[in-house]
Amino acid sequence: MTDSSTKSDFDKMVEKLQRDVNDQARMTFSEKVVTEYNNPKNIGKMEKPDAFAILKGWCGDTMEMYLKMEHEIVADISFMTDGCGATIACGSMLTSMVKGKSVDEVKAITEDDLIAALDGLPEENLHCAHLAIITLENALKMLQ
Ligand code: FES
Repeated sequence: MTDSSTKSDFDKMVEKLQRDVNDQARMTFSEKVVTEYNNPKNIGKMEKPDAFAILKGWCGDTMEMYLKMEHEIVADISFMTDGCGATIACGSMLTSMVKGKSVDEVKAITEDDLIAALDGLPEENLHCAHLAIITLENALKMLQ
């Protein structure tokens, strides 16, 4: 067996494992949650943000959110979390919803809006959306 065939077998094993994990996740979560979790957008800390917040949820997981403003518009936003897959999906979707919006428009986004944008969350993960929303709300307080 050559190195390339070994590598290929390894890659196949990783791909199968990823497929199995995603299939299991799809039994619990919507396709949108699985997509956002697998390809999170706007993830990372930000240098010199205009506003930020770091909050710990009751589950013990943390969410960080960073905003860069330009003339009352969210020019850039990013998040970090050590939380579950649903939290990553919430951070990714919420930051995507917020980018390019005015502060007033951002303030109008509710937890229900976020959950609807993800095509729903299981009952036991609703607090993940709450954590994302209150982290954003706390970051916005820095702009007042
Ligand atoms: Fe802690 Fe999702 S389980 S934020």
